[in-house]
Parts: sequence; structure tokens; C-alpha cells
Amino acid sequence: MTKGSDSPLKTVSYKANPYTFYAQLREEAPAQKTMLPNGVEVYLVTRYQDVQAGLKDARLVKDIHNARQPGILEKLGIDLGISNMLRADPPEHTRLRSLANEAFKPVYINQMRGHIQDIANQLLDAVQAAGRMDLIADFAFPLPITVISEMIGVPAGDHQKFREWSSDLIASGALSSENFHLGPGLLQLGNYVRQLIADHRRHPREDLVSQLIAAEQDGDRLSDRELLSTVILLLIAGHETTVNLIGNGMLALLQAPDQLAQLQNNPTLIKPAVEEILRFVNPVQIVNRYASEDIEIAGQKIPRGSHLQLVLAAANHDPAYVPDPDKLNITHGEARHVAFSQGIHYCLGAPLARLEGEIAFATLLRRLPGIHLAVAPEQVEWRPAFELRGLKALPVAF
Ligand code: HEM
Repeated sequence: MTKGSDSPLKTVSYKANPYTFYAQLREEAPAQKTMLPNGVEVYLVTRYQDVQAGLKDARLVKDIHNARQPGILEKLGIDLGISNMLRADPPEHTRLRSLANEAFKPVYINQMRGHIQDIANQLLDAVQAAGRMDLIADFAFPLPITVISEMIGVPAGDHQKFREWSSDLIASGALSSENFHLGPGLLQLGNYVRQLIADHRRHPREDLVSQLIAAEQDGDRLSDRELLSTVILLLIAGHETTVNLIGNGMLALLQAPDQLAQLQNNPTLIKPAVEEILRFVNPVQIVNRYASEDIEIAGQKIPRGSHLQLVLAAANHDPAYVPDPDKLNITHGEARHVAFSQGIHYCLGAPLARLEGEIAFATLLRRLPGIHLAVAPEQVEWRPAFELRGLKALPVAF
């Protein structure tokens, strides 16, 4: 077992390119027991076949109580009120997900196409004359945060605050693992969303918070704690991941000029291109589960109560799944990748993320045909969290 202090997950080279490490794990130790930088012991599962099976295996659960008693740090996370669908197992999961499900159905999401296109155009109008921008701060971040904030009912003036709080939250690990460290972002975000909900209770509107407050499913409303946690989940999941799809995806395209040119010359390839970019860049690298029984994966015995990390990014780069996996090939894109997970926790926002991705890449390539990196590729810096992989900034010129 590797120790936390010498964990490869801590190194700069891992952040710049985790795929070399994943390839080694897939070949040599496909269900490797390791210690994360924060001292938590996990099994890293890396082969496509095992990850896919794990995502669909009902013995691998989300709620730690269904696997074992939580430890002290884990209990702190639970006590802080994180109780939403991403942390729940059936039947709780079914109830929590069904309350938010309606708003994210493709039929509603597709009606937003024109509006999302307008937002993308306005963002590029603001930078076009300058001939350069930070693609993250000027485009990849404001696009999805504006969309999800409008859906939820967050006033436009508050979007930037979210950027800071949610960065803090992601860096702390609070979304993905019970063993997070507590940063100020979580408390500030919690207070803000509490006020937002109180305000919506007094003045109901045509938005998701009001819908969730009013939601009744088999006579069952969300508790205050569930409502708070669900709104925070939707806000964070609704933009952190999509920022990374757009940012990491553009970096991948800029580093594969033949693919970029192919997409520019043939915009009808946008749908397979987005699927391939999802497979290739993996905005969510890793998802967490607990073993509710003794199990065995790839010959490795994993005792009940163990914490598993299913490495979606490693699975999507498994040569047993796709030939030449470390090469971007936009014509090969298809939806069997696990970038949105599979099984009951399959990403609720996938139709929205796909639509935002399509509009973002198509608009960038159409309006900025000469777009190129304004720094050397090895100078781009990655954000600290490793479960969600994204860039701090992406300077481009056009
Ligand atoms: C490229 C963008 C996105 C990626 C790669 C992504 C990825 C994922 C993944 C991998 C999961 C499953 C986690 C697990 O199995 O443990 C998930 C769940 C979820 N995602 Fe996304 N997501 C994206 C965008 C969005 C958006 C735009 C929303 C909108 C609010 C969203 C909302 C959710 C929610 C609510 C869940 C929990 C579903 C459940 O537990 O049943 N995601 N996402």
C-alpha cells in the first residue's frame, strides 16, 4: 500500500497528467489499496470493466451508514448536513432524485438552447476586440454558473461569490468524500443558500428552489436539511463540472490541431465530439462508494466497510474499452463512456452539460477561428482537487 505522504496523487506530475499513473494501476494493480493525501485508506479501481460493474453493483453504496459506522471525521461531514441524492442509497435516493428529476429532463433542457447560445455570444462579445482572454474566467466559468443560477433562482450579482465558495468547497473534498477538511466556503455557502430558501418561501417564483419547496412526491416533502443540501448540490454540480468540460476540452482540442480543424470544417460532428471530449478529459475523475459486504474486484478481496474510489478517468482510458485511448478522436465519440457515471447515480445534469458543451465548443470555434494557446502547454496550471480535474486559468489568443 502507498502511504499518504508519498501518494502519487499529491505530485505535480500527477495533476499535469494522471493518465500515466492510471495506466500503471490498470496493468499492475487494478484494485490497488492506497492512502490518499488526507490519510484516508481507499481501494482505487481502474479497469473499464470493473468500474462499470462497480457503478451498477448495489453492494457498493453511497451512504456510509449502510456499510459501517462512520469515523470521527466522517461523522463531522454528516453532521454538517450533507444529505442529498449523491450521498444516498435507495429508497432515500429514489425519493430525493425524483423531486429534482423533472426540471432536468431533456425536453425542458432543450428549450434552453437559444438562451444558452445568447449567453455564450454575450461572453465572447465582451472579449472579442481584445484578441485574448482567460478562457476559464471569461467563458468556461460564467457560462454554466449563469445557466444553473438562473434555473435555481440565484441573483446575477451573486455569481462571483459562488466561484470563490465553491472552489473552496471542491478543494476541501466536501462534495465527494465524508473525510473533508472544513473551509470557510462551506459555511458561507450554507448561510447564503439558507437565506435564499427563506426568501423563496416568502416570495415563491418560477424557479427550481420554489419548485423544490413546493415539491410533493407521494405526499413527501423535502426536509429543510435535504432542501438546503439539494440546492447546494445542484449549484455546485451544475457548474464546477461543466467549467472543467469546457476548459479541459478546449485545451485538448488546442493540443490536437487536426481534431480542432476537423470540427471547425464539419460542425455537424459536434455531438460525437462532445462525447469524445467527455471520455478524454473526464471533468469528474473519481467517484466514491463503500462496500456494504465483503467483495472481490480483479482478484483483490475488499472487506465490508472499505472505501472504494472508482476511477472513471482510468476506465475511460482503458485500451480494453477504446483503442488508442490517449488520443482524442472526435469521430469516434459515443456514449458508453463512464464520464457521467452509470447506474442509479448517473448524472442528473447530463442533458444540460451536453447542451452547454455543444454550444460552448461550437461557438468558440465558429467565432474565434484562429484561437490558440497564449502560453506553452506545460505552463497551464491545474486546480488542487484531484477528484474533479480542472484548470486554474487557460490564456488563449485569437
Ligand atoms: C460535464 C459536466 C458534468 C459531469 C462530467 C458530471 C458528472 C457526474 C457524475 C460522474 C456523477 C455521478 C457520481 C457518482 O456516481 O457517484 C454525477 C451526478 C450528478 N450530477 Fe453531474 N456532471 C456534470 C454536470 C452536471 C450538471 C450541469 C448538473 C446540473 C445540476 C449535474 C448534477 C448532478 C447531480 C444532481 C448528480 C447526482 C445524481 C445522483 O446521485 O443520483 N451534473 N455527475
